[in-house]
Amino acid sequence: MDLISLYPTWYEPTVGSGWVVALIATFHVLASHTSVGAALLFAYLSHKAYREDREDLLDFIKKYGLFLLVFTYVAGSITGPGIWYSTTVASPNGIGALIHSFVWKWATEWVFFVIEVVGVYMIVYLVGKVDKRTHMKISVIFGLASWATMLIIVGILSFMMLPGKEQWFADGGYLNGFYGTNTFIQLGMRTAFMFTITAVVGGIVIAGIKDPAFKKEMARKLGWLGIISTIVGALMFQWYLTAVPEQALLVMENRLPDYFMPSIVAVLAGTLAYFIITMIRPQTLVQGFAGAMAVIILVAGLWPEETARESMRKPWVAGQYVYSNQVIGRDVPGMDIKSQLPLLEKVGILKAHPFTPEHLREVNEGNKIQAGEFIAMTYCSNCHSPSETGIRPLHRYFPEGVSQERVAKYVKGVLTTGNIAYMPKMPMTDSEVDALAAYLVLNNNGGQAAVTAAIDSEIAQRDRALAEKNASDKVAALDFVQEVK
Ligand code: HEC
Repeated sequence: MDLISLYPTWYEPTVGSGWVVALIATFHVLASHTSVGAALLFAYLSHKAYREDREDLLDFIKKYGLFLLVFTYVAGSITGPGIWYSTTVASPNGIGALIHSFVWKWATEWVFFVIEVVGVYMIVYLVGKVDKRTHMKISVIFGLASWATMLIIVGILSFMMLPGKEQWFADGGYLNGFYGTNTFIQLGMRTAFMFTITAVVGGIVIAGIKDPAFKKEMARKLGWLGIISTIVGALMFQWYLTAVPEQALLVMENRLPDYFMPSIVAVLAGTLAYFIITMIRPQTLVQGFAGAMAVIILVAGLWPEETARESMRKPWVAGQYVYSNQVIGRDVPGMDIKSQLPLLEKVGILKAHPFTPEHLREVNEGNKIQAGEFIAMTYCSNCHSPSETGIRPLHRYFPEGVSQERVAKYVKGVLTTGNIAYMPKMPMTDSEVDALAAYLVLNNNGGQAAVTAAIDSEIAQRDRALAEKNASDKVAALDFVQEVK
């Protein structure tokens, strides 16, 4: 049988599966970046505490460390598996691609992560119980292990955009996939912004310091850390843009909303202003203000950054060979991977998809809308919501009252041929084009209600036909019994 590796589509009707993943991932980035940055900050402060024999710095580490334990480690440990669960159902072939290339990298990351988790407990609970020199050593190990987790993850994340070296496609090899300019620039950029986040979240801890002189000292320290890291991070972002594929830049220029760049600049400027204010007037730093600032940075800074990185990758989800809709769209000889496009061109998506319901494998007048819906779910719903809400709802892209002929022409001319840079090539047979177009028109002009009504009527018709057939079979059987008698 001609089947390809596709799984049932996870469809989330309100916001779309992509947003569920993005939401979880953004929280995770906030938690993980805070803890990695803080770990390095602790290494520095602990060193200073040892050199200058200062208890107050150790006390600050203990407070910040406890805050991390309660908030970021718990949030990070919930959202981390959350990323696995959500991406595994939203993008099984994408995750498969990463696992096939990087399973040992991930194992390595988890080793460092265990050191990190044990480390944060030691940092917090051994203050005052071990001498300062030992505490400093633990802090340094903790800091390096934390940063190592980031190094590994960034290698995997940047592979999602682009394998490290072109050679990877021909020869495979995880180092070829892992190391590339993109990896290291992204690592530098994330390291910088991670310190920005550490400084902002640290404000919540500083707000609780009683001694005004110490509060001022820490506000200054974290203020400088924040200012320098924000500026370095912004410069690194410019540099990063030179290391992403042409395609990604094209998507970025044309497809990111107009407010994207101005809002990023506004967030950067606001962050800098915040640090300057807290340095000049540490007394303004109260928990409410610092907490609100952390949330603002999360919502206004991280969310657009992470979603931009996601959408720049279109139409791919991983390694420039797995499309967002999970179809493998390119040969990768180095990994013994074959493009699924030739088979799709030959038999169409309904025959090639292992989870197509039996009664939809062949398009006919009685199942057209159901078949069209199945195709839209499989091919499009990862990037376009078929409902009214969610990401890029399909009905927004065709004019009101559009004809089926026009939609079919677009589907055949543009989508099945892959004639558009930001969408995958989606091969369909003529009857599939017809079914998809019929569904799209109904969805466009009548909305979900019209689609549901049409599908109900298709099912009712099928049931009626079945009942008729059953009845006539019964009559035939009775006749037969009669004859035998
Ligand atoms: C990899 C993600 C992806 C997939 C899969 C995808 N699209 Fe798109 N599509 C996009 C993006 C990105 C745009 C650009 C529009 C935007 O950003 O607002 C777009 C635009 C469109 C447009 C607007 C016309 C245009 O040329 O810009 C139509 C119509 C459309 N898609 C239909 C579909 C249909 C139907 C399917 C499924 C058969 C599909 N798309 C699958 C990402 C995708």
